[in-house]
Amino acid sequence: MSRKILVTSALPYANGSIHLGHMLEHIQTDIWVRFMKMRYPAQEGHQIYSVCADDTHGAPIMLRAEKEGITPEQLIDRVWQEHFDDFAAFHVNYDNYGSTNSNETKECAQDIYRKLKEAGLIEVRSIEQFYDPVKNMFLPDRFIKGECPKCHAKDQYGDNCEVCGAAYAPTDLIEPFSAVSGAKPELRNSDHYFFKLSDPRCQAFLRQWTKSDTLQPEASNKMQEWLGAEGESKLTDWDISRDAPYFGFEIPGTDGKKFFYVWLDAPVGYMGSFKQLCEKQTPPQPSLTPPLPPCQGGENQGRERTAPPLIRGGWEGFAPLNFDEYWKPDSNTELYHFIGKDILYFHALFWPAMLQHAGYRTPTKLFAHGFLTVNGEKMSKSRGTFITAKSYVDHIKNTEYLRYYYAAKLNGTMEDIDLSLEDFVAKVNSDLVGKYINIASRTAGFVSKKFGGVIATHNQISESRGAHLIGKFIGSETLIAEAYENRDFGKAIREIMRLADSANEYVNDQAPWVLAKQGGQEEKLREVCSVSLNLFRMLTLYLKPILPKLAEQVEAFLNIAPLAWSDIDQILDGKINDYAHLMTRLDPKLIEAMVAANQESLTPSPSPGGRGVTTQSEQRHAAHQQNEVKKEMTETGKASESFISIDDFMKVDLRVARIVNAEHVEGAEKLLKLTLDIGEAQPRTVFAGIKSAYDPEQLKGRMTVMVANLAPRKMKFGMSEGMVLAASGNEPGLFILSPDDGAQPGMRIK
Ligand code: 2FM
Ligand code: ZN
Repeated sequence: MSRKILVTSALPYANGSIHLGHMLEHIQTDIWVRFMKMRYPAQEGHQIYSVCADDTHGAPIMLRAEKEGITPEQLIDRVWQEHFDDFAAFHVNYDNYGSTNSNETKECAQDIYRKLKEAGLIEVRSIEQFYDPVKNMFLPDRFIKGECPKCHAKDQYGDNCEVCGAAYAPTDLIEPFSAVSGAKPELRNSDHYFFKLSDPRCQAFLRQWTKSDTLQPEASNKMQEWLGAEGESKLTDWDISRDAPYFGFEIPGTDGKKFFYVWLDAPVGYMGSFKQLCEKQTPPQPSLTPPLPPCQGGENQGRERTAPPLIRGGWEGFAPLNFDEYWKPDSNTELYHFIGKDILYFHALFWPAMLQHAGYRTPTKLFAHGFLTVNGEKMSKSRGTFITAKSYVDHIKNTEYLRYYYAAKLNGTMEDIDLSLEDFVAKVNSDLVGKYINIASRTAGFVSKKFGGVIATHNQISESRGAHLIGKFIGSETLIAEAYENRDFGKAIREIMRLADSANEYVNDQAPWVLAKQGGQEEKLREVCSVSLNLFRMLTLYLKPILPKLAEQVEAFLNIAPLAWSDIDQILDGKINDYAHLMTRLDPKLIEAMVAANQESLTPSPSPGGRGVTTQSEQRHAAHQQNEVKKEMTETGKASESFISIDDFMKVDLRVARIVNAEHVEGAEKLLKLTLDIGEAQPRTVFAGIKSAYDPEQLKGRMTVMVANLAPRKMKFGMSEGMVLAASGNEPGLFILSPDDGAQPGMRIK
């Protein structure tokens, strides 16, 4: 059956630069979409599309534009280009990258509003809010400052204190003042429009929706908490209006006085961007020559916003994209939203409730990911770990390194992901350069020099080990495809690297450099190198969703058509091109320079026209005011030093390990050398201080528990790549841990 899938990433706010935290999500989405396009190609009748856009409305954008002396439209246009360029540099390729400030989004937002109103789900109520009498505007909470009512720290925002962490209403602030004009704000009444989320229809719908396999288990639990027990009504109505002046869409029938709150039209931007895609896909009139092929895949379309990207094939048999087919209730198409866990509330409550009661389909699934930490901590400007996409590109250049690293860490859950800069360098150099590229760089030269680039044919690859290996590579297809589709990219990479290890073993054992020196071994040499290059081709195919640019270079080098997923069982034939170096090692000095540059950019606010650097949370806070919700999802809590948060605990990567080997270490009094299998391509070596309690023979084959993400430590006897856990008390005795029966090597303990 053909699949029709629309995928989105959260829309970046147009008030700041894209940073490596954003990039985690956009790379995750892009890898998934690229895989799905390869696995479910358009030529077989599938439609896989991804859209995104800039989220452009709200008071922060209006005020920033004013400060820069430009219009909000000029500001969002400039930022749009910056964001678009950043995504292009990281090979993040949406079929349409739009803006919420578009006619399409406006039409959809106003339509949804009218339908909710017709359904009796909009209510107008007067509320009291702070007003800036100098600036003549109501102030968002983040634009009111004052003294914290709890710890009395000065200059705190109107929603929560950054010193003691207290959350409060702006009216609780002592000596409040407007952060815009400095004036003392006044309390004034104004009519606000509310979406009645507390209505029994919304409650009943959300209860059913959140249980229907639309959410990851962690998210589903969170939702049950938000919704409360059956019969309990925990949801409150949602304030969807803001008073003029405001940069956004006018609420119909309010005479330019009321605007939709930015979070109302942000997710509608998914529909708006998709609508643009449908519009630009209208097939050309017969008179137009040459016809542009329909949109599916293709690299980012240069700087053109409207040019349709290319696909293999043309308009022939092309069914134009139909907006209604994707958005009507009970649509057979699939809709997936990739989001960060901090905006789950908006996507799992407000958004589906809006869609459902306005007569549209609801999302098939939400794919929430965790936060990015750098070197185990929140991204920080003072440590230089708040890294913008642009500065990464300026310093490191090769963005596929980061795509690979993120992919290796992503597993489809809401766990936080750590970018350990040291580990980043080590992993890229050992996996990509040391294992993958190495296969081609050690064998291609012989084919060019000795055989004029002509590769052995299928029939000539008769050598049993080579043929067997090719079969093994083909046989891994299902496992790798499933891992990709389940967004467990880490698992896909572990399998791919396991294959790369076996290819390298083959090259080592066959030693083509020795064969090249021996007389009469030409055919064997050609066969070994050809097998190796076939294996390299297959690894490239498997890695293509992650490394699309490199895959293109390999396709040119191997002189083959763009690799499709179903090409896995093909064998190279004909002539390859000369091998040119495909990837260089990542130099740790580049990372140091990047971190230093990000530290340097700590100078006061950005110059007008420059690219502002704000923290992940500053950006979000400036835009949104659902802080109680976000706090619950994001804050680690400062209550007591003696507790750690769940996020802290999750940083420790505990794994089930099988003790493959245990031996004494010559000269060591306390240590045993353990070889541990944790489901990785290579077993780990760990030196454990358990000699006093265990005979190595006793340990062989046993299962235990290890810390898998402890930085490798160079010891007198060699490198220790982790730690085995053992219990001890006041009495003598050491006891290593054992998981229950059934636990497998590599399982995560959490
Ligand atoms: O949190 C943010 O950065 C928002 N701009 C995300 C919006 S996602 C969607 F709803 F548009
Ligand atoms: Zn405080």
